[in-house]
Amino acid sequence: MTEVLKQHLIDPEICIRCNTCEDICPVGAVMHDSRNYVVDAEKCNHCMACISPCPTGSIDNWRTVLRDAAFSTADQLTWDELPLAVELDEASVTMAVARTSSDGDSIQANGADAGLGSIVAPPSAATPVVNLYGAKNTMIATVSGNYRVTALGTDSDTHHIVLDFGSGNFPVLEGQSLGIIAPGVDVNGRAHHARQYSIANPRDGERPGYNNVSLTVKRVTVDYVGNPVLGIASNYVCDLKKGDAVQVVGPFGASFLMPNHAGSHLLMICTGTGSAPMRAMTERRRRLRATGDTLADGRLMLFFGARSQKELPYFGPLMNLPKDFIDINFAFSRTPNEPKRYVQDLMRERAADIATLLKDVNSYIYVCGLKGMEAGVLEVLRDTAIAHGMDWQALHAELKRDGRLHLETY
Ligand code: A2P
Repeated sequence: MTEVLKQHLIDPEICIRCNTCEDICPVGAVMHDSRNYVVDAEKCNHCMACISPCPTGSIDNWRTVLRDAAFSTADQLTWDELPLAVELDEASVTMAVARTSSDGDSIQANGADAGLGSIVAPPSAATPVVNLYGAKNTMIATVSGNYRVTALGTDSDTHHIVLDFGSGNFPVLEGQSLGIIAPGVDVNGRAHHARQYSIANPRDGERPGYNNVSLTVKRVTVDYVGNPVLGIASNYVCDLKKGDAVQVVGPFGASFLMPNHAGSHLLMICTGTGSAPMRAMTERRRRLRATGDTLADGRLMLFFGARSQKELPYFGPLMNLPKDFIDINFAFSRTPNEPKRYVQDLMRERAADIATLLKDVNSYIYVCGLKGMEAGVLEVLRDTAIAHGMDWQALHAELKRDGRLHLETY
C-alpha cells in the first residue's frame, strides 16, 4: 500500500531566516544551512507549534506526496522556490496522512505550550499589520538618516538608520520587525534573501507624524566563532547614505507586542541591538506620558547589557530619561578593572523588585538580544519566583499562555 504524506515545507522565497521555527520545533524537525530553512519529513509530527509564531507565513506550506517520494532535506536546501503542487492519483494512494495518528489539518497549534516564551500577543495589544510587502512586491524606502550610536574607536559599530516611506503605507507597532534586501546576488548568483531587523521607534513614527521608521543595526565583521567575515546586509545598511533607496519587506511579528492598557508594567531585558524594540516601547510610553495619557501608567524596568558604556547603543539618550519614568540597569562585561557583568547578574541583584513584578498579572516581560542570555534570564526569573514563594512552573505556563513572556534572541 502506498502511503500519502502531507509534507510540511518552508517557502524559501518568503522566509526571512529568523530561526523562530527551528527554535520552537519540539522534535528538532527544522534545520537550516546558509541558504534555506527546511523541514525533515521523517521527524515532523505536524504538531503545528511553528505555524503561528512564523512572522512571514513562509512556514505554512504543504504538499501532498507519496511518502516514499517525500522531498529530502538535502533537496529542500537547494531550492529557490517551492515545487508546484502535484495532484496525486487518488486510486493509487491511501490517505494515511500523518504518522501522528490524526490528520495534520485537524491538529491545532497548542501555541502557548510550545517553546519557552509566548507565541501570542498580550490580549490588549493593538492589532498588527503583517506581510504587506514581500520579496516580489518590496516597498522602496528612502534613507533619511544614518548615525552611529556607539562611540568611535570601539569594536561595536552600531548605527541608527532612519527610513522614510514617503506616501507609502507601512504601518508598524512597537516590537515588530522588517526585512531589508541587500542589492546584488550571493555567491550562487541568486538575489540575497531579506535580513530581519527590529523596528526601534513607536507606532507613530521615528518622528511623530512622519511616515518613517528607525532600525538599530550592528556592522557584522566576525562570525559566531570570531573569524573575520563581512555581513552582507549589515554592512550594506550601516553604509547607507541619506537619499539611498532601500528594498523593504514586512512588517513582521504578531506576538512580541506591548500591552495597550493602563497600568501594565514592562520588564525589558536586552543586549546590544536587542535594545531596538525596547527603545520603541519606551518611547511609546514616553510620548503617551508627555500628553498625560493614562495608557502611560505602569512601571518600566530595563536591564541592558553591553561590552562597555561606549559600546551601548543610545547610552546618552537613555541617561536623559527621568528616573521616575524608567528604572534602568546597565550591565557592562568588558569595562577595564571591573568585574564582568551580564544582565542576569544585575537581575539577581534586583530580585526583590523583579519578584514584585512577577506577582503582578499586569507585568509583561520582553527579552531581546544574544541567544546565550535567554537561559540565564529564565533561570533568574525561575529562582526569583521560587525564592519569593511562587510556583515557577505554573507561573511560567501562565506567562506564556497570557502573552506575558516574549523572547526574541539570535
Ligand atoms: P561579552 O563581553 O562576554 O561578549 P555584543 O556586544 O557581542 O552584542 O554583546 C552584548 C553584551 O552581551 C556583551 O556585554 C556580551 O558580553 C554580553 N553577553 C554575551 N554572552 C552573554 C550571555 N550568555 N548572557 C548575557 N549576556 C551575554
